[in-house]
Amino acid sequence: MRDQWMKRAGIGVLAAVLLAGSALLGGCGQRADAGEAVITDMEPEALRQVVASDNQHGRTIMWQQIREETASVEYRTEGGGTIRSVQAGSRLLKGNRGEPDRYIYEARLDGLEPGEAYEYRTRAGNHVSPWHRLTADDGGAFTALIFPDTQSQDYGVWRAVAEAGRKQAPDAEFFINMGDLVDCGQDEYQWQAWLQGAGDLFRTMPVAPVIGNHEAYSLDWKMTLPERYLAHFTLPDNGDPSLAGLFYSFDWGPVHFTVLNTQAEELREWYPDLFEKELAWLEQDLSGTKQPWKVVLMHRDSLQYRIASRPERKEGISPEGEIFMPVFDRMRVDAVLSAHLHTYRNRGHIYDFQRDARGPLYILTGVAGDVRYPNLWTNHALDVTVAPQPETDNFLTMEADADRLCFRAWLPDGTQIDEAVLTK
Ligand SMILES: [Fe+2]
Repeated sequence: MRDQWMKRAGIGVLAAVLLAGSALLGGCGQRADAGEAVITDMEPEALRQVVASDNQHGRTIMWQQIREETASVEYRTEGGGTIRSVQAGSRLLKGNRGEPDRYIYEARLDGLEPGEAYEYRTRAGNHVSPWHRLTADDGGAFTALIFPDTQSQDYGVWRAVAEAGRKQAPDAEFFINMGDLVDCGQDEYQWQAWLQGAGDLFRTMPVAPVIGNHEAYSLDWKMTLPERYLAHFTLPDNGDPSLAGLFYSFDWGPVHFTVLNTQAEELREWYPDLFEKELAWLEQDLSGTKQPWKVVLMHRDSLQYRIASRPERKEGISPEGEIFMPVFDRMRVDAVLSAHLHTYRNRGHIYDFQRDARGPLYILTGVAGDVRYPNLWTNHALDVTVAPQPETDNFLTMEADADRLCFRAWLPDGTQIDEAVLTK
């Protein structure tokens, strides 16, 4: 199927011929071809929703295909109504590891009505995809899914955890991936396995990705620009075109999410002042939001754990924690989620590097792939809850309303392993 991106109409192809019954609205240069016959045989591969900065009014739609052509995204309120159209942009992503060159398509929808249920499809000429569900954030209570590191040899593991998450939280409105999405960031075969692993999740639920160190590894395991991560996700604008996609923020319901980049080490050659610029942006971002809740997502953890075989490595605060935790304290961040260590740990509230209810809740989110580190980490004095050992995969749900945040950690079989509640 990888080489069959958009089967065209022809004898033997089962194609539904429909009439686009309503006028297509103007804006973004689209046509107004009311009543034109369309053929529902477009098969956009890895069709996905990506979070926008303001998800009450916006959403980004992306997909990939072998051929380059003029394409658009059409959307309407669920079940009918006026069809709106947004021209899609495309850019070439060279293939490798047996994967062909592909064009990555993107269209940014705006002007959505908060809380409205929509459906969207892709279009090229008179060929369209089936409609898929898209729901605008209503600004109120929501449930989200959170998946820790998914890097794997076999991405079927990621598929199983994703399916378990959907089963646990069928009403989840979006999902977060905490970084190290793939094992080798420049390996397109892995990206395709990862994209296809999430299956239907991507089409109906937007993703909020976090960049991890493995996104910045080359095929020969050297540090490199995370070109494929940046190609596969068009992310909200952070105000600096030279750092586009490397860190960003978005709002959902009553929560402001700030998505950091902890890859200063990997990206030093290209962005020697990444953390300096990111810190300035972080202060501005956190001080600029009026949302009741502030949640930070970062791949590397703020704490440092001991490893029994490396006595020189001390328990304490990580280099990233030293840099960012004082800002979290000062800006009154409510919760900080991290990943990277492939272990689930709830460390409770930390302020000024110590146990203190005034500080954010720090959760290390675990692992959702097949790269495991059994018995590697020594427990930290700040650990409150540690997942059952040796660890298997897990995911989290997050329930939010204006007064309460609830994080729950789950094993794929539905066993709850932790719960943390914050109230205002
Ligand atoms: Fe990592």
